[in-house]
Amino acid sequence: MLLKDKVAVVTGAASGIGLATANCFAQEGAYVVLADIDELAGRAAVESIQKAGGEALFVKTDVSKESEVEALIATAERDFGGLDTIFNNAGIEQPVTPSTEVSEDLFDSIIGVNLKGTFFGCKHAIRAFKRRGGGTIVNNSSVSAFANVGGNISYAASKGAVMSLTRVLAIEYSKDNIRVNAICPGVIDTAMNQRNADLASNRAEVEERWKTITPLGRMGTPEEVAQTVLYLASDMSSFTTGVGLLIDGGRVAT
Ligand code: NAI
Repeated sequence: MLLKDKVAVVTGAASGIGLATANCFAQEGAYVVLADIDELAGRAAVESIQKAGGEALFVKTDVSKESEVEALIATAERDFGGLDTIFNNAGIEQPVTPSTEVSEDLFDSIIGVNLKGTFFGCKHAIRAFKRRGGGTIVNNSSVSAFANVGGNISYAASKGAVMSLTRVLAIEYSKDNIRVNAICPGVIDTAMNQRNADLASNRAEVEERWKTITPLGRMGTPEEVAQTVLYLASDMSSFTTGVGLLIDGGRVAT
């Protein structure tokens, strides 16, 4: 077990990549704190982990609010005795919109969850890691930090900034036994993509387009992403910090 008796926080854990990672971490022996705004699905996920013999609890958290993230980390420390790893995964998409039509409110909301939420998670996790003697952070960036996917300027900007923030923190805390890395998924089959209006109206055609631009010829699964998060969260990657690991089926290589 790669995370035996480690305490892990996963944000956005009620669905998709976060849910698959929470399940994976629990199977690997971690005590998992699942955080999400979706209380119903979050509690159901905890129940399912516990039924399978794992240890988990749910904390309703809006990652765009610093006080809630601070309380989340405090709960992990109080209930499980400390914090060893955090997966800052909660994120929202920007509906496909020409950049000149993106309002200030829309831009702020995407940056608030994807960038500020990641910053708050890192900030309070690092404080807890210092009390523990070290830890690992995995941030969920995106292929859109490296390649133009079009029509989502605030999303792309937030994910590019997550990569910059990851590098800054990796260097700043490298002497504190803290590693900070990111994952950069391509198209993964989750609710986020199912909500895409374009996809909803014409799923077959859009999926075909994604497959064409992805050398491996398919969407990735949340479970495949979870395996990469596990690698970066665990000692398997003990000499790796400050990187963004692409899980994109070869997309950026084209
Ligand atoms: P999803 O929509 O299935 O899951 C996102 C989860 O985050 C949901 O449970 C949602 O309730 C939660 N959430 C939303 N706002 C929140 C907030 N303010 N506080 C706490 N939780 C909140 O989406 P998916 O695909 O699993 O996305 C997870 C992460 O992966 C996101 O950061 C996304 O940008 C990133 N990503 C996804 C890709 C994809 O193709 N699905 C590709 C690249 C990155």
